[in-house]
Amino acid sequence: MTQIVSPPLSPVEGYKTVSRGLRGTISAELADDTTITVGEASHSLLKFHGTYEQYDRDTATQLKQAGLEKEWNFMVRARIPAGRVTPSQYLALDDLAGRYGNGTMRITTRQTFQFHAIAKRNLRETIAEIDRMLLTTMASCGDVVRNVVTTAAPIQDAVHDTLRNTAEYLSSVLLPRSNAHHQIFVLGEDNGEEAEVEPMYGPTYLPRKFKIGLIHPDDNTIDVLSNDLGLIAEVTDGRVTGWVACVGGGQGMTHNKPMTYPRVASALCRVDHADLLRLVEAIVKTQRDHGDRTNRKRARLKYVVDDHGLEWVKARVEEHYGAPLDAPGPMPKLTVPDHLGWHEQGDGKWWLGLPLPAGRIADVGASRLRTGLREAVIQFGVAPVMTTLQDILLTNVEPDQRDGLEALLKAHGALFRDDLTPIARWSMACVALPTCGLALSEAERSREPIVAGIEGLLRQHGLEQERISVRITGCPNGCARPYDGDLGIVGRAPGAYAIFVGGDFEGTRLNFLLFERIKEAEITSKLAPIVTAWAVGRTQGEGFGDFCHRMGREKLLALTAPEMLAAE
Ligand code: HEM
Ligand code: SF4
Repeated sequence: MTQIVSPPLSPVEGYKTVSRGLRGTISAELADDTTITVGEASHSLLKFHGTYEQYDRDTATQLKQAGLEKEWNFMVRARIPAGRVTPSQYLALDDLAGRYGNGTMRITTRQTFQFHAIAKRNLRETIAEIDRMLLTTMASCGDVVRNVVTTAAPIQDAVHDTLRNTAEYLSSVLLPRSNAHHQIFVLGEDNGEEAEVEPMYGPTYLPRKFKIGLIHPDDNTIDVLSNDLGLIAEVTDGRVTGWVACVGGGQGMTHNKPMTYPRVASALCRVDHADLLRLVEAIVKTQRDHGDRTNRKRARLKYVVDDHGLEWVKARVEEHYGAPLDAPGPMPKLTVPDHLGWHEQGDGKWWLGLPLPAGRIADVGASRLRTGLREAVIQFGVAPVMTTLQDILLTNVEPDQRDGLEALLKAHGALFRDDLTPIARWSMACVALPTCGLALSEAERSREPIVAGIEGLLRQHGLEQERISVRITGCPNGCARPYDGDLGIVGRAPGAYAIFVGGDFEGTRLNFLLFERIKEAEITSKLAPIVTAWAVGRTQGEGFGDFCHRMGREKLLALTAPEMLAAE
């Protein structure tokens, strides 16, 4: 008789199983000041608490050659649902970046802040300090439901109130119940307790990260369909009455591993607003039970959906939900408004959307952006909101404060919406080198030259005012959502990138691989014939991604690299 041997669970599953509710030996390892690193199990478990152990990759080779240890340190990420902080929370976060971090804060593509280069000896205090601000870092990384995102627009009406409140509500009720975080980081003690019961997650949490985003159809600035669970509000008479639930979105893939791929979420069902939490829990439990725990590269909900089919997934969700679910109905048209510049909030106040280069808040050279934003918060009491495009909205500005706020920010070298072309405004880059351990190439640090090169091409055709989204990442994991944009530039090796084109600006269609691997210096020249063809052959108002999609890979390659086509 043939015996079927199941593949072994991934090592992280083992760490979770014996972790006593995510405690493991973190507390003892953080208290050990004879080492600046932690062991493998703690490295994995610490992610659940919102921190990644990393090292400075710029200095690593040199240190190794000198026989010295790498500069190990930690990235710390807050959990800020809907991207909202109060003025005093912002000031406290800014203070923390100077006290324990590298003097910079980074707005992430999921509406929160990251700090880099926190030394192990300061890790506990940094996280405790964030807790004292009534924020947390718990579950901002790890195999759990992450920070829930929604539109940043601080518009004061019933629909936006519901989006904000629902994001905050889901984010808080879906937190793990384990008290480990509070004990280890706030109280500074792990008394050897056993794990608490986790009614939704169970003892081994989820197979992989789980991302939720919510929108109403007129504002898909968050790329809702890139989430494991994207929720689209149904609006009746100016109120949210129900939700269309889309499942199985996700960005990450691995080069040369076709079994891994990005995916746009598919509409599963609809529910009344009152039933939303029940549905969300049912979907999370379905992924908990059926996500692949043997292979972390194929553990996301998107593979469950593709391996078993949407109807099968719906049936499993209904088992947890306890009732049949309504069909989703036709997908509404999604649009993407621009939140930068001045806008009225609807309550007599205004917000100013400021573009930030790759989300980095720093004082560098003549640009004193960090100081400028801090002063803006102190002097004008503005409440910052982070966007999923790595920008910041300064909200609650009284009409008579507008000139003063602008003057203050200008004096600190801040760039405004109209100082940048749309392509620069809508570009994003992940952190990559020097902090991300997974980076194969630069991203944040090569964003400016790459975007400037493409901007130059657009200028040649008078197209520099066209909206094009360019997303650059240092590896295929896709933290800056490169497979959703008009143009995705994905690191393969130092100075070399894969190029994806043909996505749509509204975030409803994935782009496709055009070049497997080209040098950074070739990006502009290889794109030039395509931009020319777009300039000449576009239909009325046709976007760059839409044009590339209409042409398809073969025609585009024939234009720019016929030798590659011949070799295939
Ligand atoms: C699939 C595998 C993935 C892995 C292993 C991974 C791992 C990482 C790591 C190590 C960092 C820290 C980099 C640093 O700050 O130095 C990071 C940053 C980040 N990742 Fe991922 N990531 C993955 C996919 C994604 C995806 C698909 C998204 C969202 C679309 C995402 C969202 C983020 C965000 C928001 C940050 C913060 C920095 C930024 O805004 O660029 N990640 N990720
Ligand atoms: S995309 Fe890759 S290189 Fe960029 S932050 Fe994510 S894991 Fe790191």
